[in-house]
Amino acid sequence: MRILIASSIDAGAVESLQREHDVVRRFNATEDELRDAVPESDVVVFRSGVRLSDAVISRARPGTLLLRAGSGLDNVDVDSATRCAVRVVRVPGSSAQPVAEFTFALLLSLARNVTLADRLLRDRRWPKPDLGGPLLAGKTLGVVGAGNIGSRVGQMGAAWGMRVLGCVATPDASVEKALRAKGVELTSFERVVEEADFLCLHVPLTESTRHLVDGRVLARMKRGSYLVNVARGGVVDEAALRLALLQGDRVLGAALDVHETEGEGTRSPLADLPNVVLTPHIGAMASDSQRLIGERVVQLVAAHAEGRLDDVLDAQEVVEQGVTTKEMAS
Ligand code: MLT
Repeated sequence: MRILIASSIDAGAVESLQREHDVVRRFNATEDELRDAVPESDVVVFRSGVRLSDAVISRARPGTLLLRAGSGLDNVDVDSATRCAVRVVRVPGSSAQPVAEFTFALLLSLARNVTLADRLLRDRRWPKPDLGGPLLAGKTLGVVGAGNIGSRVGQMGAAWGMRVLGCVATPDASVEKALRAKGVELTSFERVVEEADFLCLHVPLTESTRHLVDGRVLARMKRGSYLVNVARGGVVDEAALRLALLQGDRVLGAALDVHETEGEGTRSPLADLPNVVLTPHIGAMASDSQRLIGERVVQLVAAHAEGRLDDVLDAQEVVEQGVTTKEMAS
C-alpha cells in the first residue's frame, strides 16, 4: 500500500511501515502538497499541524484511510470524508495520560514560577523574594471538559489535595458517578469558571467551543486565578486573555501548550508577558506514549491492508460523521 505520512510520528513506526509499504514522508505538509499526494495514497497518517480540508479529501479515492495518530479531529473535515467514502480513524488511547501529566507540569510551572525563575537565573538574576507562588494543595482545580483527559487531571488534582470541580457537555448520572469516584464534583461550566483557582481546559475545538474562554468568561474567573490550556488554541480568545493578563487582577498567569496560530516561525501574542508559560503543543509528546501510538498506527495500517480494520478497531478509535460536534470532552 502507499502510505503518506503527513506529520512526524514515532521513528520506529515509520521504519516498520517502510518495511512493509511504499511510504512517502511529507511532515507538516501544506494543503497544496496534500492535494497533490492524497490521490496517490491508500493511507494518510497525520497529527495536528496539517489540515485535511474538503479540498484535500475530495481528491482522495473512495476507501482511502485517514489515520489520526492521536485524538483531536479539529483539523480533518469528517463530514467531507463521509461524503467521499473516505474512512477516518483515530488513536486516542495513549494520548490522554501524557496530556494529563503535562497539564500538571504547566500547573506547577505557573504556580511556582519555574520557567520564569529559569529564564532569570540564566540572566544571572537571583530574585528569590519575588518568585513565591501558591500551593496547589487546598486550592480549587476547575476542569472544563472532564472527559478522558480532564477526568485524569481531576484525579491527579484530588491526589494533590485539591478540591476538584468539573463540567462536561452532556452531564448525566453515570458521568457524575464516574467523576465522583475520581474525586471530581460534576457541576456547571459557570461554577467551574467562577470557583477555580486553577482553570484547565480539556475540550475539543468545535463550533460550540471556539473562543469558549472569551473576555466575558475571563471577567468571571476568580480573582488571583490561573488558566491552563492544553486543549486547542482556538478555545481561548488570546487577544482577550492578553488584556486580562495585563489588567492582572483576576487572571494572574496562564500556561498555553496550544495556540490560535501554531507552527515553526509563529510567535504567540502573549510571548512578551512574564506571567505566561508557552510550549509548542507537546502535551502528548511523552516518548512512551508516542511509541504506543506508533505501534497502534502500524497495527491499524496492517489491518486495513488485510481488509479487517473493523475487526480490530475499539470504540474510541471509530470516527463517525458528527463526532466532532457531539463530544465536548474527549
Ligand atoms: C492530539 O490531538 O492527539 C494531540 O494534540 C497531539 C497531536 O496531534 O499533536
